[in-house]
Amino acid sequence: MEHLLSCEELEKEDIDNLMSLAFKIRETLRRGKKKFSALRGQCVVNLFFEASTRTRTSFEKAGKFLSADVINISASTSSVKKGETLIDTVKNLDMMHPDIIVLRHPCEGAGETIKPHIKASIVNAGDGCHEHPSQALLDAMTITDIKGSLDGLNVVIAGDIVHSRVARSDIILFKKLGANIFIFGPSTMMPRYPEALGVSVLKTFEEVAEITDVLIMLRIQLERLNAKKVFPSLREYSRFFGLNRKRLGMLKKDVLIMHPGPVNRGVEINNDVITADRTFIFDQVENGLAMRMAILTILSKREKKLLEEIDA
Ligand code: CP
Repeated sequence: MEHLLSCEELEKEDIDNLMSLAFKIRETLRRGKKKFSALRGQCVVNLFFEASTRTRTSFEKAGKFLSADVINISASTSSVKKGETLIDTVKNLDMMHPDIIVLRHPCEGAGETIKPHIKASIVNAGDGCHEHPSQALLDAMTITDIKGSLDGLNVVIAGDIVHSRVARSDIILFKKLGANIFIFGPSTMMPRYPEALGVSVLKTFEEVAEITDVLIMLRIQLERLNAKKVFPSLREYSRFFGLNRKRLGMLKKDVLIMHPGPVNRGVEINNDVITADRTFIFDQVENGLAMRMAILTILSKREKKLLEEIDA
């Protein structure tokens, strides 16, 4: 694996290797070991053109726990503010010999666009409405952890599907792992051709309740919409599509509730659902750190070294 740009290009072997290493890393972190030397001498640049809490912090921690040099750059404090282009920005950064550039950008295909211009490996940390592969990998890890595997599971992704890079990456990755994928939400937020994504559309919450093994709730991507034109309104969305206690009670007893964050409490999911036994939102964040450590390690080809440290 040279880059992580999309789930589309991940082979089953890559997914298995990432997942297996991430589980080993998570168990080692849980035992209290937080410093490894596997990436000593490597340099990771986090280049973020959009806001982030989870992805940026976990890639930073991942690099630091692995002893890489980590540099964080926000567009708002870089020369992008003075008009420098994305390609010029990364070409300049590449001359400082980074090994991995982790890029979040509002434009679909930003990572692919910079690839021919630089030598460093690229991780797509979210490109517009296109993909967020590390999120899908940590989501798959979370489901595997609780359910054993995704094979044959009915996964329902609910909410603003059309603007969600998480939805796209989850759909592509989970299908590779054998899950059946359904989508649910207001028709204004559904893709025009769901069959092109290989998903089925559910029309009512009763249909959702009957089949769902895993329910992934999504935030309305207000930053990608003209806020004045949001339809349904946030209040209507909460009323007709939000996950509350009553709707949680309609679902299977062993359903798994997830959300990539950030959560808009009281819109797509209520406070008392966030704290329910079947909700694994914060577990996703813990798995995200381990998965991002696995991604950086495998891109750096330092897997053997890290496994030696884990087993020592
Ligand atoms: N899930 C996710 O990408 O969160 P951040 O935007 O906080 O990174």
